Amino acid sequence: MKPIHHTFGPHITLPYLLESWGLLLSPWKWRKGYDREKLRSSIQYWFDAKCFLFSSGREGMLGLLRSLDFETGSEIIVQGYTCVALPNAIHAAGYTPIFVDIDPGTLNIHSGDLEKKITARTKAIICQHTFGVIADTQKLREICDKNHIVLIEDLAHVLPDVSGPDSLGINADYMMLSFGRDKAISGICGGAIVSKHDMVSDELEEEEGRAKEMSLWSTFRILLYPSIYAISRTVYNMGLGKIMLVVSRKLTLLLPIINAKEKKGTQSPILKKMPNACAALAGRELKNMHSINNHRRVLTKLYIEAAEKYHWDTPGSISPDFPLQKFPILTEDADAMRIALKKHNIYLDDGWTGSTVCPRSVQLSTTGYSEGSCPKAEEIAASIVTLPTHITMTTTQAKRLISHLQS
Ligand SMILES: Cc1ncc(COP(=O)(O)O)c(C=O)c1O
Repeated sequence: MKPIHHTFGPHITLPYLLESWGLLLSPWKWRKGYDREKLRSSIQYWFDAKCFLFSSGREGMLGLLRSLDFETGSEIIVQGYTCVALPNAIHAAGYTPIFVDIDPGTLNIHSGDLEKKITARTKAIICQHTFGVIADTQKLREICDKNHIVLIEDLAHVLPDVSGPDSLGINADYMMLSFGRDKAISGICGGAIVSKHDMVSDELEEEEGRAKEMSLWSTFRILLYPSIYAISRTVYNMGLGKIMLVVSRKLTLLLPIINAKEKKGTQSPILKKMPNACAALAGRELKNMHSINNHRRVLTKLYIEAAEKYHWDTPGSISPDFPLQKFPILTEDADAMRIALKKHNIYLDDGWTGSTVCPRSVQLSTTGYSEGSCPKAEEIAASIVTLPTHITMTTTQAKRLISHLQS
């Protein structure tokens, strides 16, 4: 029985694995090649705006925030219940993150609390579509226009395809995309900034030009990731998979998503280019965007039906049209539920629990978040369990998960 999981190579299908082997055997394509430019053109075509590529979303965000060239100490709004990558990028650019509470019905920024926290120093709002629940960017645009604030859309958790969601990217000044290993699509690592403003685009071009190439050793380890997870996933329930992952980590063959310094609030000021090999992997995912999103829609619909049937508590505004990156449910003892499910080869730890700035191993005091300032975000972080919708999670596995959740 294959494990049900969020993090054991969620995007690694057989064709993805084969492509990673092809790239492993072609080291001349790791840094240079046509794939970076192909990915850039596809994104530019889709959003009809300029695109700049970096080795992660957080580096892109830092490059963007520096290019915006606000006064030191300017305030950038982010929502509570977010990833530490965002406050870290804000701090690294010399600004101050201001945390706004979330609407428990959407898990996204609460417009009422947002308006209360805007000051004369506020320069930008980062809008996150948490787990693919689409935020009301029209309303955010109005607030931004009224207050002369820049709107940045964080598309780490969701990307549009021909079936929508149509509102993504329409109202923002800038967008951040992430191609991390468990994001909307994956190049194992990588990120992009999409800019609709020429002057800032010029600065971003310089930021990308100055960015360093990733080391060959790091690129090699990135390309090993699909193989390590594809094998360990297959032998996980025999105990071998866990051993393989522990050994790979000890040998530093697996790059952490968030490193020890980042957990203490520090992001390196040095940006890196997106490796061409990662662009090749992200590009093949982008081509399959519609089927990846449709798979997410099918599982979202299945979970919605189960939630209705079994009266699960879920954020109210989830729609079967959303290609959710994960399906959130709320329960009294989320940690106990995750622990109980492990006995059934189900691993629902995704790093998005137990803290308003995730993962919970982050030193909260370094993020700028004051405890109690976003009470709803704190409540959600304590009670959320998310269910996988990724491309390697089958409908049969989703049904098995639903029946375990019931029992
Ligand atoms: C909402 C959100 N924004 C930004 C990021 C940063 O993306 P990346 O991992 O590509 O730096 C993450 C995750 O790490 C995220 O979950």
